[in-house]
Amino acid sequence: MNGKLSSILPGVPSIDLGVFPTPLEPAPRLAAAIGVAALHVKREDLSGPALGGNKVRKLELLLADARARGCDAVVTTAGQQSNFCRALAGTAAKLGIHCALLLRGAPPPVEGGNLLLDRLFGAEVRFLDVKDPWDPRAKEALDALAAELRARGRRPHVIHLPGESAGLGVAAWVGGALELDAQFAAQGIDPDRLVLACGSSLTLAGLALGLKRAGRRCRVSGISVQQPAARLVPWVVEAAARALPLLGPGPALEAGDFDMIDGFVGEAYGKPSPEAVAAVRLAGGSEGLVLDPVYTGKAMAGLAACLRDGRFAARGHVVFLHSGGTPGLFANVDALGGQR
Ligand SMILES: Cc1ncc(COP(=O)(O)O)c(C=O)c1O
Repeated sequence: MNGKLSSILPGVPSIDLGVFPTPLEPAPRLAAAIGVAALHVKREDLSGPALGGNKVRKLELLLADARARGCDAVVTTAGQQSNFCRALAGTAAKLGIHCALLLRGAPPPVEGGNLLLDRLFGAEVRFLDVKDPWDPRAKEALDALAAELRARGRRPHVIHLPGESAGLGVAAWVGGALELDAQFAAQGIDPDRLVLACGSSLTLAGLALGLKRAGRRCRVSGISVQQPAARLVPWVVEAAARALPLLGPGPALEAGDFDMIDGFVGEAYGKPSPEAVAAVRLAGGSEGLVLDPVYTGKAMAGLAACLRDGRFAARGHVVFLHSGGTPGLFANVDALGGQR
C-alpha cells in the first residue's frame, strides 16, 4: 500500500501532507518493563510536518475541506499547548494559508513548547479565558474571530473539532486503522489490544470504527487524559456516526466496541502527573522513545497500571499509539528536569 489517504479513502478529498504509512515497531524492552508479552508502537510521532503527531492525518482532510470551500484562512480554538494548533499552524504555513488560533487561558509569562512553534509558523494568536473546550463561549469567540478576519478581507474556515469538523477527523483515523490492518497482515501479527491517549477522542473513534470494519478483533482502549469517560463514550459513538457518510458501506460503531478508561488525568488536564513523568522516563530509557507528560505519558502510565492490576492480560499483545506531542516535553521542563 502507498499509505496515502487518497487511496485508502477514495471518495474523500485530501491533501498529501504526512509521511505515511508511519512505522509499526516492536518495543521488547518496554514490553518487559511494563509486564506484557508483546508490545508494538505505532510511530505516529513520525508522521512528518511541523513535528508530526496524530493531527497530521486529520489535517490532510480538514485542510482539503478548507481549500475546497475556497478559504484562504483557518481559525480554531484549543488549549495553549495544543498539538493540534501547532500542527495546523505548521501545515497551513506550508500551504500558504493564514492561521488564526484562539488559545484557552491567560497569556503565559514564557511562550515555550507548542506555543513557541505556533509563533514560529506565523500564526495569529489570541487568548481566551475559558477552561472547558465544550464551553459555548469558545465557539462564540471562534465565530467572532472568523467575522473579524472576514472584515479584513480574508475567507476563513472555522475548524471546530468537538463540533462540525468531527466527522472528517474520525474518517482520517479510519484511514489510520486500515493502514494498521495492512501492517498487521504484512508483519504477520494479530494484536489483541490497541492503547492510546484520548482528548477529543476522534482518533479513538476512527481507529475503533476502522478496525471493526476491517474485521480485526483488536480491542481499542482509550486512556482519557481530559474528560470523564461517561461524557466521552456517547460522544465517540456520535462522532463515529458522523464519519459514516464519508465511508463506504459497513457497520457503525457501538459503545460496547471500545473501552474508555478513567483515572489517569492526574491533578488536571495538561498537568504532568508523577506516573506520567515516570512513564516518559521509562519509555526513553528502555527504547529511546520520546513521550510527553500530557498525552502519551499518561496513556503509557495507564497501560502499565492496567497490566499491573490485571485489567489487561500480561500474556497479551498490545499496540501503543505514539500520537506525538513531543513539544509538550519542552513546555514541562520543571516537571521533568529536576530529578535524576
Ligand atoms: C499528542 C496527542 N496525543 C493524543 C491526543 C488525543 O487525540 P484526540 O483528540 O483525537 O483524542 C492529542 C490531542 O490533542 C495529542 O495532541
